[in-house]
Amino acid sequence: MGLAMQDYREFIDEILVDENTIGKRVAELGAQISNDYQGQILLVVCLLRGGLMFTADLTRHLTIPHSLDCMSLSSYGMGHYSSSGNVRVNLDLMTNIEGLNVLLVEDIVDSGRTLAHVLQMLKTREPRSLKVCVLLDKKYRREVPVDVDYVGFDVPDKYVFGYGIDIDEHFRNLRFIASADMQKYKKSS
Ligand code: PRP
Repeated sequence: MGLAMQDYREFIDEILVDENTIGKRVAELGAQISNDYQGQILLVVCLLRGGLMFTADLTRHLTIPHSLDCMSLSSYGMGHYSSSGNVRVNLDLMTNIEGLNVLLVEDIVDSGRTLAHVLQMLKTREPRSLKVCVLLDKKYRREVPVDVDYVGFDVPDKYVFGYGIDIDEHFRNLRFIASADMQKYKKSS
């Protein structure tokens, strides 16, 4: 990874979801989840790294008791647009989820391979319930069917970045979600 990183303004295509719109939708999802799990105990599972920002904001809108755990999965090589089809577990849960209500929180579902893999893996551990909340859904790219219970926004089939989603491991800190013109993007060396 190079020390100098290109300014995103040189390759941004358009802002797909601005900060204010993200904030409102995350608050709505937090309220809906709090309502749906009323009286139950919830384990929120953040799928690292993309789900980090979303999980941090979403959980601060939950009004029900919940605990938090993380998993790290990789499905893409750096800078790749499409899924490699290989999902690797880099970090597993610390919590024994048997009998628990588990909500997976993910930044984006694209081919569906990552979620399909983790859902299959976690089901064998016999949670009481297992649901999925994604901020972004690239519906038209689905290759593997996957049930998603809560969706923030549908996004077009473009390279998206910001609010947890990277390009070559950068730009996760941006407060908005944008599409990138990858012809204009120069990969750092
Ligand atoms: C991205 C994203 C999802 C997955 C979605 O993760 O965070 O986990 O790809 O793609 P899919 O539906 O085609 O499987 P990535 O492997 O880039 O890791 P990261 O979260 O660390 O950025």
